[in-house]
Amino acid sequence: MTRTILTGDRPTGPLHLGHYVGSLQQRVALQAEYATYVLVADLQALTDHFDAPEQVRAHVLEVMLDYLAVGLDPAVATMVVQSQVPELAELTIYFLNLVSVARLQRNPTVKDEMRQKGFEADVPAGFLVYPVSQAADIAAFKADLVPVGSDQLPMIEQAAELVRRFNRTYPGAGGPVLVEPEALLGAVSRLPGTDGEAKMSKSLGNVINLSTPPTRWPARCAACSPTRAISAWRTRARWRGIPSSRIWTPSIRTRGRWTRSRRAIAPAGSAIRW
Ligand code: TRP
Repeated sequence: MTRTILTGDRPTGPLHLGHYVGSLQQRVALQAEYATYVLVADLQALTDHFDAPEQVRAHVLEVMLDYLAVGLDPAVATMVVQSQVPELAELTIYFLNLVSVARLQRNPTVKDEMRQKGFEADVPAGFLVYPVSQAADIAAFKADLVPVGSDQLPMIEQAAELVRRFNRTYPGAGGPVLVEPEALLGAVSRLPGTDGEAKMSKSLGNVINLSTPPTRWPARCAACSPTRAISAWRTRARWRGIPSSRIWTPSIRTRGRWTRSRRAIAPAGSAIRW
């Protein structure tokens, strides 16, 4: 039986290199082998951006462009916009009865985010329960595997717990109804930021977006091995309809020689300039 992958991103801004090495790379590599669903989690984005729906809406398209740019193929993988599948919200409601408020408050990722956003004293209920809606995303598609960065591990654990509890509480006539998911970590589960901080993250302002032209990268990004970002940026520019004369071609120096390369794949140890 074909196994299923589901994963997703909140459309709160453009995706960056941390997303690429944490999860996007795995999705691209596995999309043909697994039934793959990639979710743009716009309802989840509203849990901390409820006052900026236009921004969330605009970022749905930006995130889709990033998906295409890194090589997710819409003919192979299925892209899903969360709000367009109301059953996900419905399953969230059933799941909410199977978890305690205390358990939700113990989720370390949610705790960190609450601290970062200054929500400690007055957290919106929707934000506290977003791991439950994420569990519903995963369970509704009967995903076996969820490629994510390491910050998402507590979410997958919580989803697996909810699935077990659901299957115990509502046993199906022909065996368990839902599938218990497992996380799949990327090659680099936590990419350092351009400032040398432990994690590349939008809220820390130390990211290189897949959509940022290489001429605007901070000098220090050489440390982040930018070759893949270059080709993602170029593909993205093409999808956006930017004329090819404006899509920069990098010069790559290998063994002492500078050459203009149409493909921005530089062997390890080579230098890049624009
Ligand atoms: N929480 C994830 C993030 O912040 C996004 C997400 C929503 C997700 N639903 C998911 C990830 C289901 C994996 C599976 O990026």
